[in-house]
Amino acid sequence: MSDGKKLTLEEIKAKVRVVCICKGVKMAKMCEAISKGASTVGEVHKATRSGDGGCGATRCTPVIEQLLANGGRPIPLNQQKSEEESAEDDDDFLNW
Ligand code: FES
Repeated sequence: MSDGKKLTLEEIKAKVRVVCICKGVKMAKMCEAISKGASTVGEVHKATRSGDGGCGATRCTPVIEQLLANGGRPIPLNQQKSEEESAEDDDDFLNW
């Protein structure tokens, strides 16, 4: 994220937006993990202690995948995939 620079609105929102609801891990912490070298969902989970909650990481994993694809930059809430949308993407291969 920013190094002493003025934060963007999305960076500010990421500081309060909880991605891993089970463990209370915020988006900014996940972005920081990615900027420090985490390059897979598993590495982000390990670095942030997310992903081993009661949902089995089904809720936070789709957002982490988006963060990884976005180079560790915060995802605006209106572009954030839900667990259901992610599952629909997984089902798309059945329809081709
Ligand atoms: S939301 Fe991350 S483990 Fe449930």
